[in-house]
Amino acid sequence: MNGKRILLIVGGGIAAYKSLELIRLLARDGIAARVILTKAGAEFVTPLSLGSLSGDKVYQELFSLTDEAEMGHIELSRSADLVVVCPATADLIAKAANGLANDLASTTLLATDKRVLMVPAMNVRMWKHAATKRNVAQLEADGVTVMKPDVGPMACGEFGAGRLPEPDRIAAQIHTMLAGPGGYGPLAGFRAVITAGPTREPLDPVRFISNHSSGKQGYAIAEALARLGADVRLVTGPTQLPIPDGVTGVKVETALEMQAAVKANLPADVFIGVAAVADWRPATRAPGKLKLKGATEEKVALQLVENPDILKSIGTRKKDRPRLVIGFAAETSDVEKHAKAKLARKGCDWVVANDVSGDVMGGPDNEVLLVSKGGTERWPRMSKAEVALKLAERVAQNFYEPETAGAE
Ligand code: CTP
Repeated sequence: MNGKRILLIVGGGIAAYKSLELIRLLARDGIAARVILTKAGAEFVTPLSLGSLSGDKVYQELFSLTDEAEMGHIELSRSADLVVVCPATADLIAKAANGLANDLASTTLLATDKRVLMVPAMNVRMWKHAATKRNVAQLEADGVTVMKPDVGPMACGEFGAGRLPEPDRIAAQIHTMLAGPGGYGPLAGFRAVITAGPTREPLDPVRFISNHSSGKQGYAIAEALARLGADVRLVTGPTQLPIPDGVTGVKVETALEMQAAVKANLPADVFIGVAAVADWRPATRAPGKLKLKGATEEKVALQLVENPDILKSIGTRKKDRPRLVIGFAAETSDVEKHAKAKLARKGCDWVVANDVSGDVMGGPDNEVLLVSKGGTERWPRMSKAEVALKLAERVAQNFYEPETAGAE
């Protein structure tokens, strides 16, 4: 537990139910939530469900004698590390922007001396209305962080911007804001360097050799380590994914660029090679676009040279070797045997091995083995985000109690 606490103001909107999932996600990472539920919010979620998940009393009334006696609204507004309004309705945004204070939520927002995060959710026309735009601009000028709503189909049948962002995105934003300079969490003060995605090896200015890696698993690991407080450098080949909040992204194209970027970000406490580095690159890169000869079916020779093995160069490093070097192994048969061989050959402490003969590459799930010198653990099939979190927790655990992998 990292002992952080947020004050969560749940406004009235169809998206209010997502605040329940948010509380659960935060609790998993050791962040407690104390909840204020507005009158409109109570039309969508019950104090009982919010209270059960937060494990705390849910505050609803400004003029409640018992509430004021237990924790007055001034104290409530200052007892947390961060105030989060989720969902932030057009009404709550307007009140906060104008300093109105006629109920517990608005009074608390006016009385707080803590940072405030607003997570808007409303109909697209309300979000695009000039009044809301003015209010959001005012809040931002006052130092409030306002998340951008998602774009998509709305509960009211319309389509556009105004949907509440998914709870894991909100949780990531909360982590970033709580982290502040210096960070918190079990990995605060530790640096992680991670490679992810494919590399592209150019043949000429318009063609390249690459592979189908999506980068999902590497990005999820970077995010999970950042959530635990690590200073994360994500050295990534070209992907469709945004750099996760709280992570420093270093974008590269080729294996040689990836290797240089990894070295430039050392020393690190942990290195995790998740990238599907292209094993070969064309021996030469033509300065201009290669031309066809017009000789259909004639064989054309392409000379390739082997790329450096980035993971091996880190695992076998004499000076400045990270304390923990973790490789990934994508296998189509004899997974454990090949992973053990890779562990030794590349000088890794752990190898996360998976069978890619099925639908793992590019898919949302993963089923892995964690192989170390101490033994092998078989993890059940879970989402890539869950694999990432479990791995990040194991990394943290290892820094405090070394040699835990493979011991189960
Ligand atoms: N790796 C790397 N640099 C390379 C090739 C691979 O850093 N040039 C890393 C990957 O990021 C991954 C691990 O090595 O962590 C395993 O890669 P994989 O392609 O499975 O193994 P190979 O070394 O290519 O072995 P093989 O093709 O024999 O399975």
